[in-house]
Amino acid sequence: MNSPVAWALVFHIIGFVFWVGGLLVTTTVLALHTQQESPEARLPLEHLEVKLLRGMAHPGAAITVLAGLTVVWIQPGYIHQHWLQAKLFLVAILIALDLVAYTRAKAFHKGEIKLERRECMILHGAISLVFLGILILVLIKPF
Ligand code: HEM
Repeated sequence: MNSPVAWALVFHIIGFVFWVGGLLVTTTVLALHTQQESPEARLPLEHLEVKLLRGMAHPGAAITVLAGLTVVWIQPGYIHQHWLQAKLFLVAILIALDLVAYTRAKAFHKGEIKLERRECMILHGAISLVFLGILILVLIKPF
């Protein structure tokens, strides 16, 4: 693998570890947060969720997408590969799940909505499944 692609993949991998890792931890903390009554217990969890989304998941998302597009820019032939086309479809779903988690967390923090533990765990499961699908497509390349 030529070094510019290899370097781009180094950042690609650290990016999605921050992105997906940040989202999975945030949805777990949110699920716990929905069970807390007292403001003393809720406020630190709110701060943690904001830090995880803004300081880890979203910078990770930007690095992942920029590095991934860099690999395709260096080797445009990738775009014709069906596994990458299917992968980009799953990446679009991951972005949508990220936006749902972010907007629901913000509305919950403002007291505009009552967030259920069940919803947080469904988001958590959906993010895990999409991540599994991406890994299968890029490492197994089934088509
Ligand atoms: C715009 C978004 C993305 C683009 C254009 C993109 C593109 C690519 C390309 C071209 C490769 C090299 C594949 C190879 O040579 O085998 C790659 C590798 C990879 N991508 Fe992405 N990707 C994107 C997003 C993601 C996301 C969101 C994840 C995970 C959540 C991800 C996970 C991986 C993994 C695990 C590899 C394999 C790295 C390796 O070679 O070991 N990618 N990506």
